[in-house]
Amino acid sequence: MCGIVGYTGMRPAVPFLMNGLRRLEYRGYDSAGVALQAGEGLLLEKQAGKVQGLADALTERASVDLDGSVCGIAHTRWATHGPPTQNNAHPHLSKERIALVHNGIIENHNSLRERLRADGYEFLSETDTEVLAHLVESHYEGDLLVALTAALKEVQGTFGVACISAEEPGVLIVARRGSPIVIGLGEDETIVASDASAIIKHTRQVIYLDDNDVARIVAGDVEIRTLDSTPVSRATSEIDWSADAAEKGGYEHYMLKEIFEQPETIRNTIRGRLDSDRGTAILSGLNLEARDLADIQRMLVVGCGTSMNAGMVGEYAVEDFAGFPAEVEQAAEFRYRNPIVGSKDLVIAISQSGETADTLAAVREAKDKGATVVGLVNVVGSTIARETGRGVYLHAGPEISVASTKAFTSQVSVLLMIALKFARSRRMSRERGMEFVREIEALPLLVEKVLEQNDRIAKVAEQFADFENAFYIGRGYMYPVALEGALKLKEISYIHAEGYHAAELKHGPIALLQDNVPVVALLNHGPGKDKTLGNVAECQARSAPILGIITEGDEEARSCVDSYIEVPYAPLHAAVIPATVALQLFSYHVARLRGCAIDQPRNLAKSVTVE
Ligand code: F6R
Repeated sequence: MCGIVGYTGMRPAVPFLMNGLRRLEYRGYDSAGVALQAGEGLLLEKQAGKVQGLADALTERASVDLDGSVCGIAHTRWATHGPPTQNNAHPHLSKERIALVHNGIIENHNSLRERLRADGYEFLSETDTEVLAHLVESHYEGDLLVALTAALKEVQGTFGVACISAEEPGVLIVARRGSPIVIGLGEDETIVASDASAIIKHTRQVIYLDDNDVARIVAGDVEIRTLDSTPVSRATSEIDWSADAAEKGGYEHYMLKEIFEQPETIRNTIRGRLDSDRGTAILSGLNLEARDLADIQRMLVVGCGTSMNAGMVGEYAVEDFAGFPAEVEQAAEFRYRNPIVGSKDLVIAISQSGETADTLAAVREAKDKGATVVGLVNVVGSTIARETGRGVYLHAGPEISVASTKAFTSQVSVLLMIALKFARSRRMSRERGMEFVREIEALPLLVEKVLEQNDRIAKVAEQFADFENAFYIGRGYMYPVALEGALKLKEISYIHAEGYHAAELKHGPIALLQDNVPVVALLNHGPGKDKTLGNVAECQARSAPILGIITEGDEEARSCVDSYIEVPYAPLHAAVIPATVALQLFSYHVARLRGCAIDQPRNLAKSVTVE
């Protein structure tokens, strides 16, 4: 959510900053801006709208100062405080000598603003960030690190910050609490960002700041202190994915590319983690010995959005196969409702980004209450990965499309492996374990079979692209798939879509059905199919057009629906994956036919770092 880039070194800063902003645009696209040390002062350019608008403005304004600047900061915004206008765009300046960009929320901005106004500061925007810029200026006596440290001590809330001063050439200061800052180390130059994808083109050597770290960076030198001024050193890590992974690779949209990557990403997720001889999963990152496994009395999964939907599959699979209680809970609710959690609970925090504020808050709550907390995270080195300290990385590679696809299928793959591991430590036979391993190993192939039907799914989408409302229904393992299918459709096509348990529809929502409200029914082969077919008949009796997701060759299901997409047969816990991929493609094609901004849907941003 929002993207920060900063550069200091020997080369012109603008190309680094603009390239970084383009890479980070998926984190917010309401406005963009840069501030540069130029000549004796600071040069500021910002625009409402996408990064391209900023690029055009910079081209028009081309100047020697702009081209010659070797230190600057830049930002792409997802609006929190104040609408997406030019004035509210970052960077924010104070007294023409401090420029600052910020991710996160300054919670006590109102009281600070009042005080700063009384001290004579003039506010040009409605943002909490401008408050921070003036606060830093109010502490500034020639040392920006000291001033930022003093300001941040007065701040409540979360921040990833980068700032520069007109009076300290080449000095870039960054800090974090709750919003990530990654420092990319080059030779005689440093590029900082809120996300490694803005850095990878230039260097793989990075330092991740910890919460309450402040760093002074000059060319290639990085000096880190904590907010209480204690010098600290943070380890250098190497980014293990390539710049190509964050490119579109010939696809029209990142979303389509990421959907098509899934056979490979699932292979990466399961590689080396299955023991086919012993019929179990090897998940050493969980750091759970046999004794720990035996002690666990309940599994609790927390996450948001798509990650929570994946968590529900985990809940079902653990109860189904391992035979002990599992629950999934919205991370946002977990923290505030005083949940009963203790040392016998295993809490699994699921997050693609590893930065989602609600999930992070749930992690902290669970840790405080003594639970064993593990992370299922995609982004290496992210806050949730580090705070949980144990878990399973998804290895799905960078997910750039705002709508999550490949992260979901990798999350489900890991959850199935967790269910297998727990089941084998309790009640599952070796033979059944070996079969389960084969079921997981078959997942990439099942996805390939769905992808082969892309053209047909695009045709089916044509019949549904003009509706404005839709319901998705499913039972058992297909219930979370219905939730995820509806989420995907609404976020990228703006069709109002609701996922419901198939049986729930008649408890209210059925009142909405008519001939222009289609129902997407998950009719995969399995125990819930006949009952769901009954629900389909109820919908048809109200004239709703039905799209069935059916098992390949299922004549009965085919004859009961108006349109269908076939998915290959798999046992239901595994069928979640091909069924979801079919719905991802369906949403994609509907959104495309409606001319939507698929990779950057309105009002959304990747990685939600505010509560
Ligand atoms: C939907 C989507 C969101 C995220 C949610 C959690 O396509 O992307 O619902 O799943 O914001 O994000 P992570 O997984 O990064 O915690």
